[in-house]
Amino acid sequence: MKRFPDGFLWGGATSAAQIEGGRCADGKGLSHLDYVYYRGPKTPCNFMMKADLEKARAEEAALNFPNRRGIDFYHRYKEDIALLAEMGFKSFRMSVSWTRLFPTGLEETPDPEGVEFYHNVFRELHKYGIEPLVTMCHYELPIGFVDKYNGWVSKELIGPFVKYTSFLIDEYKDEVRYWLTFNEINMVTAVPWLGGGILLDYDKPYILRMYPFSNALPEEQKRHWDTLAHQALHHQFIASALTVRYAHEHAPQCLIGNMFNLHHLYPETPAPADAFRAHEETEYNMFFSDVMAGGSYPEWIMSYYRKHGIHIEFADNFEKILQEGRVDFLSLSYYLSSVVTADPKRQERIGAFIRRMQNPYLQTSDFGWQIDPTALRISLNELRDRFHLPIYIVENGLGAFEEPDAEGKIHDDYRIAYLREHIKAIREAIDDGVDIMGYTPWGCIDLVSCSLVSMTKRYGFVYVDADDEGNGTYDRSRKDSFYWYKKVIASNGEDLD
Ligand code: BG6
Repeated sequence: MKRFPDGFLWGGATSAAQIEGGRCADGKGLSHLDYVYYRGPKTPCNFMMKADLEKARAEEAALNFPNRRGIDFYHRYKEDIALLAEMGFKSFRMSVSWTRLFPTGLEETPDPEGVEFYHNVFRELHKYGIEPLVTMCHYELPIGFVDKYNGWVSKELIGPFVKYTSFLIDEYKDEVRYWLTFNEINMVTAVPWLGGGILLDYDKPYILRMYPFSNALPEEQKRHWDTLAHQALHHQFIASALTVRYAHEHAPQCLIGNMFNLHHLYPETPAPADAFRAHEETEYNMFFSDVMAGGSYPEWIMSYYRKHGIHIEFADNFEKILQEGRVDFLSLSYYLSSVVTADPKRQERIGAFIRRMQNPYLQTSDFGWQIDPTALRISLNELRDRFHLPIYIVENGLGAFEEPDAEGKIHDDYRIAYLREHIKAIREAIDDGVDIMGYTPWGCIDLVSCSLVSMTKRYGFVYVDADDEGNGTYDRSRKDSFYWYKKVIASNGEDLD
């Protein structure tokens, strides 16, 4: 394989809630993800309803909250960073926990121990020449904002959020060059609790929708839900744009990206109705970057709002704020593609939360996600043509069930095969003329799964000896993919064998 461009940022990605643990340590407050309780190794639990939060509180002592333990990165970060450095990482994606700095989100000044913790982590990364890539909000918000405002539905969150992000810029600008505002901003319209701390009171275990066009809800609930979700999204757009503007004014050396979940879609047949469905859903996937990178709402979404009676309260001067807060680069997570049909009755669930058709030409992971490196190449080309910005691939990877063999080893050749094909697709996209800054595969060290709050879905190059109940030594060990990725980085992508 041809070498990657000099300076390509090879690395791996994590988030605070999924690795840190120490959730109640040293003054940290609880975030809404700290209330997600375990319901079994295969049961998605990020679709909390009001009753679920009530239960989490009422039965707090008896329930299991894996995010509160993470993998104990809070105490073991030095050992973990040394392992990443051994693989040759140039970049490490992590997030800062809002509630470790501002426990309720409303404090005037941040918690000094929290502030120091992140300085220590950044210092440790720089010791090995690893650039931190920091997500300011990887889904987490202070739980009080759920109770008081129903999360991002309220504009009242914008002020505290911008206070928090301005603090991050001021405090860490000399240690962190690359920032992302919201992780997978499109999740707020797909998974209300996860992406926005929004509690719905109608009983639906899964919303089973990713896009307004494939909603399984009855019409009235759909309008209600679309209004809440898009209102919350608008508040996040504004909060993000104000953050970007602040960073550009106060720390021009920093680069700020958006972050969305890229989802490539194929029409099931060449029937024009299927092709149109794929087109409109692709437009929806691009919409988040149209606003954050292009700086304005596309006309089609305004028309969608009008047609469906979705009334959004836009912030004063929102057009100016969005224009002034355009991001410097795009970033994305990419795991799977899927197939869409114009016939809603024939849609299926793929994996935890997406209602789509299976693609007979693709293989599927242990968790039902369809593996498609070519779709990544196609989408990267489309993004180049539309936005003309550098792109950072900040999540990609294969979640699998894994148990060490008799010698305590994990032979994860399936992960190596997955990553190899995706790296090839990225190399091809670079040859196609796409400007790609770096690649940070997800869960470079095993962590708590987001959808399942479980340790049974593992992504890492490094194995962590911990189970869903918190049993285990939490010792770290190297999987086969650890040695493989080390070679990939050392050869700057040339040696993928
Ligand atoms: C992304 C999230 O959606 O997917 C991560 O940004 C998450 O937080 C990752 O962990 C994989 O999902 P899961 O459910 O397999 O952990």
